[in-house]
Amino acid sequence: MATAAAQRTAGSEADGAPDPVDTTAYQHAFDAAVAADERIEPRDWMPDAYRATLVRQIAQHAHSEIIGMQPEANWITRAPSLRRKAILMAKVQDEAGHGLYLYSAAETLGTGRDELLDKLHSGRQKYSSIFNYPTLTWADVGAIGWLVDGAAITNQVPLCRCSYGPYARAMVRICKEESFHQRQGYELLLALSKGTPEQHAMAQDAVNRWWWPSLMMFGPPDDESQHSAQSMTWKIKRHSNDELRQRFVDICVPQAESLGLTLPDPELRWNEERGHHDFGPIDWTEFWEVLKGNGPCNEQRINQRRRAHDEGAWVREAAAAYAAKHTGSAGGTGHETGATRA
Ligand code: 3HC
Repeated sequence: MATAAAQRTAGSEADGAPDPVDTTAYQHAFDAAVAADERIEPRDWMPDAYRATLVRQIAQHAHSEIIGMQPEANWITRAPSLRRKAILMAKVQDEAGHGLYLYSAAETLGTGRDELLDKLHSGRQKYSSIFNYPTLTWADVGAIGWLVDGAAITNQVPLCRCSYGPYARAMVRICKEESFHQRQGYELLLALSKGTPEQHAMAQDAVNRWWWPSLMMFGPPDDESQHSAQSMTWKIKRHSNDELRQRFVDICVPQAESLGLTLPDPELRWNEERGHHDFGPIDWTEFWEVLKGNGPCNEQRINQRRRAHDEGAWVREAAAAYAAKHTGSAGGTGHETGATRA
């Protein structure tokens, strides 16, 4: 941000110092930086509402990554081959890594991971609606890769150009990994689709169940999206929910044809005039019910997350104890120095 250095010198919200001067000049500098497509960095002045919006979105995104590990981890022990098991384990581990990058990005805004996890566990922050659906068969692993990760990429590639630097940079790596996830799902579904009639039917059933929830991942329709307009003005979001949803439908239609699978929407057809596919109405009642906690797996997912957190307490304590010991070693008496001497 062009005037960031001057702002830092004058004091900023980020370092907690009381602002001695009128913030109007800062606001103008912030607006100019956003208009010029410059990145806002952690120590730059930013409006409180911009910071709060980023924390809300990044936290929800981070929570989605770690809750999203559950439906697929459900199939690790039942993967049909060593190759499939290795791929699935790598993918689930990637999701944990994505959570890590995103919680770290939120930390740069002054919000610690403990606080965010506490909000997730107590239901004060959301995670993506999609992870409240069950993975009933092995084909669901393919459908999640193709559709859920495909939707995530469509939504997240524009976030690589988000105005907030740490979030944008985290998204670059996440998108590369999501791209691999999407391809493995497609390849898995293709193998099933071209397999026995039973395997083909299993793939079709999975696509039937995951298609509509995947379209809901993009959020409510634009006229009901509470945050879109402001987030787009701030260039946190670059496209509206409906624009990205339409882009995703247009991408999926030819891919479904190549897979030999049918998308479960009788109203899906190419509209020459619009240059896009028309599609049938989304059941928004279902979406809002899932957000309220009434989806098929909401309770299971959050209970499992709380259990994993509690059972992992000893790891956090051990890591904190090690870090404290390590910090104490800075003077030359600690473990690493000793190891070097040995
Ligand atoms: N699931 C749960 N909540 C949703 C939602 C969804 N699919 N879509 C919207 N919402 C919530 C919003 O969070 C908001 O509630 P809040 O005020 O309590 O936060 C409310 O519904 C209204 O929606 P808006 O359109 O106004 O909200 P946004 O402007 O934040 O847009 C979004 C929603 C498009 C999801 C946006 O937040 C976004 O792009 N987030 C980053 C991407 C992300 O979170 N992806 C998660 C997908 S899963 C994933 O990435 C894991 C991968 O491994 C597949």
